[in-house]
Amino acid sequence: MSTIDIKEAVREKYGRAAEQAKSGRSSCCGAGVEPQSCCSPITSNLYNGEERGEVPEQALRASLGCGNPTALAQLNLGEIVLDLGSGGGIDVLLSARRVGPTGKAYGLDMTDEMLALARENQRKAGIENVEFLKGEIEHIPLPDNSVDVVISNCVINLSADKDRVLREAFRVLKPGGRFAVSDVVTRGEVPEGVRQNMLLWVGCIAGALQDYQYVAKLAKAGFDGIDIEPTRVYNIEDARTFLTGQGVDVDAIAPQVEGKFMSAFIRATKPASCCAPGCCASKI
Ligand SMILES: C[S@@+](CC[C@H](N)C(=O)[O-])C[C@H]1O[C@@H](n2cnc3c(N)ncnc32)[C@H](O)[C@@H]1O
Repeated sequence: MSTIDIKEAVREKYGRAAEQAKSGRSSCCGAGVEPQSCCSPITSNLYNGEERGEVPEQALRASLGCGNPTALAQLNLGEIVLDLGSGGGIDVLLSARRVGPTGKAYGLDMTDEMLALARENQRKAGIENVEFLKGEIEHIPLPDNSVDVVISNCVINLSADKDRVLREAFRVLKPGGRFAVSDVVTRGEVPEGVRQNMLLWVGCIAGALQDYQYVAKLAKAGFDGIDIEPTRVYNIEDARTFLTGQGVDVDAIAPQVEGKFMSAFIRATKPASCCAPGCCASKI
């Protein structure tokens, strides 16, 4: 698929998911508001009871993440947060509460239906220190050095140009700013056919990175303090029904999959001592 085809496939998929969440159905068994039986092991039960109580039910239904970045990121009063691929807005609304009225949370998404849903969720939540921006995470519509924390929840794996996304995240972060992202990563060698089937299950249209590739790309963009912490490791049983439906002999591939596909929390920092002319620019 070309980059443009990938972008269109992503936009279409998430446009449909937004409409589904709006019509009262879960877009993907998001946040534990549906019967357990229908839930995806990737997107279900990401938020605790307190967090669920802080956002409208429609925002929970639209939740399509694979982690809970605001629970793992340190967010302080007065800070500016940017959520890359904000979807129905759940992490933006949670961030806005954490940074308080002197701070601000931006959500960035390219899909009109998701933006409309997120803005409706903001209105329902009655939160004012939030702004949803239309745009692509490869071209962030914010100035250099303007954000304290970049968060994201299961979006960077969808991009066909991850170097560009990381370079943009680095550009908009202030010196000392934090990258605090949940994403799907793989670990260790997996035969290409098996990898493609598993990534299809996970919903990674452009493809998840291997953990060491993520680290290398972050370093190349200029980040330091890079760390990848697995938060959920998937096993073959998680994917059995889906893979069987794809005609895959699940028992045969089980040993090649075990422990290799995971959701992870990815942390990195833009160096604070970034003051010489040009030093804040990414190394890509
Ligand atoms: C898997 S959903 C995650 C949504 C949200 N982060 C959550 O946790 O519910 C992916 C979202 O990212 C958006 N998205 C995907 N690729 C994008 C891109 N290149 N630029 C902007 N938004 C993008 C989609 O429109 C969709 O809303």
